Order: sequence, then structure tokens, then C-alpha cells
Amino acid sequence: MFKIVKREEMAEGTVILNEIEAPLIAKKAKPGQFVILKANEEGERIPLTMADTDPDKGTITIIYMVVGKSTALFKTLKVGEGFQDVIGPLGKATHLEKVGKVVCVGGGTGVAVLHPITRALKEIGNDVTCIIGARTKDLLILESQMKAASNDLRVCTDDGSYGHHGFVTDVLKEQLDAGDVKLVVGIGPVPMMKALANLTKPYGVKTLVSLNPIMIDGTGMCGGCRVTVGGKTKFACVDGPEFDGHQVNFDELMLRLQAYCEEEKSCYEGFCT
Ligand code: FES
Repeated sequence: MFKIVKREEMAEGTVILNEIEAPLIAKKAKPGQFVILKANEEGERIPLTMADTDPDKGTITIIYMVVGKSTALFKTLKVGEGFQDVIGPLGKATHLEKVGKVVCVGGGTGVAVLHPITRALKEIGNDVTCIIGARTKDLLILESQMKAASNDLRVCTDDGSYGHHGFVTDVLKEQLDAGDVKLVVGIGPVPMMKALANLTKPYGVKTLVSLNPIMIDGTGMCGGCRVTVGGKTKFACVDGPEFDGHQVNFDELMLRLQAYCEEEKSCYEGFCT
């Protein structure tokens, strides 16, 4: 068993942080990589990118939104209990390079995925501006951590309850207009990543996105995670999860993510009743 040593609820209990004992993964994992977790023998395999790792303590941190039966089951696990299986680190690590001015943009739980990447980009000497957004102030996560991980933090809320009233793309546009941005890293809901990539394309600014398709084995065997990038089929679990945002077919990804919506909804309702 992979024991939970810390548990926090965020965003009004819709987002859960678990710090989990997984010493071998903590030792090897790099920013951008993910793990697949199973709560129990019959559990569904859920891929989650690590929000943090502590090789000295031998722990990894995952942050997930409760969106279906499996994440609702994860939410019932208390400190001292644990996951039956945690597999990883999986996927390619983020390519880290000193390029100058970098803008990291996160939405929803994508902020958790962005956290170690932002910190690593700053540590190697980039000037990192971070833009994070949520629907409302209460749904915003990791504000203090992102402030510490970047050189400058901007916050946006859709309803204007905190920070800039509007979308992360508004603030990103200001940054792009000011010039000098060499790299944008965007992680969050697919429509947000699509909007970011569309915005940066005319500026010719390299844009990395982290994709979250349906995954099963996570090792390149099932094809469940296939995405189209630059007109070619790629497997997000082994070729990604990060890709050039200007090459990704986001519309196809959105369609594939909706494929099991009905089944997921009835499973979740069955679990809750
Ligand atoms: Fe099976 Fe990627 S999850 S090939």
C-alpha cells in the first residue's frame, strides 16, 4: 500500500491534495511526469501529474478534482490509509532550458501540474511570470506556492471576485504585447489550452501544453491516449504528456474526452447514492 501522509481539501472540498509515501518514485520523478493510481483491486486506473515530490521524505504530492466515481472514492481515503497501486514516474519530463522570459499559465487543477515546472524553469535562471485562473476566488488553488515558484504572479477569476476580472488569456495577451516572451507553458482545461495556443501562434511564441486524454496502461500499449499532433498520431503517455500547442488537434481531443461521459455520470451517481 502507498500510504497517505497528508491530506488537504481545497476549493470548497472539490479539490483534494494527497501527499503519498512512494520513495522510489519520489527519487526518480522529474517535473512534468505523472503517475497512475488505483485505490483498490477493482479500482479504475487514474493518471495524475505530480504537483510535487520530496526525495528526502520519500513522498509525492498529487492534487485532483473530484469529477467522477474514482476520484470520489479517492476522496474517501484518510491519512494513514492509502492507494493499492501507484505506478510511475511515467511520461517524458518537461524539457527545461534557459530561454529568458517565460510565461506559465494554469487553470483549475492544471495549476498543480504547472507548479513543479514553473519552479524548475525559475531555478535554471528564467524570468518566469505565472498567470493562474479559476472561476471564483474560492476555487483558486496554490496561490502562495505559485508566487514562491515564479518571479511574478498574476491571478484571474472569471467572476472578478479576486485579481483580474476575466480570463488568463487577457493577461497573457498583455505579456505577449509587451514583447520578449520566449516560451509559454499552458496547463488546464482543454478549451483554455486551445485558446492559449491560438493566441500565441500569431506571435510566433513557442507554446507547450500538457494533455490529459483517457489513459489505461500508461505505457504505450493500449492506444487509449492517442492524440493527433502535427497530423500524426501520438500516445500522450509515452510521447507526452507535453506537446507543441500549435500542433495539437484540440477539437479531436475534446471529442475523445467526451466519449464516456454518460457512463461516467451514471457510475458517479451510483457511487453517491
Ligand atoms: Fe495506453 Fe497511452 S495509455 S497507450
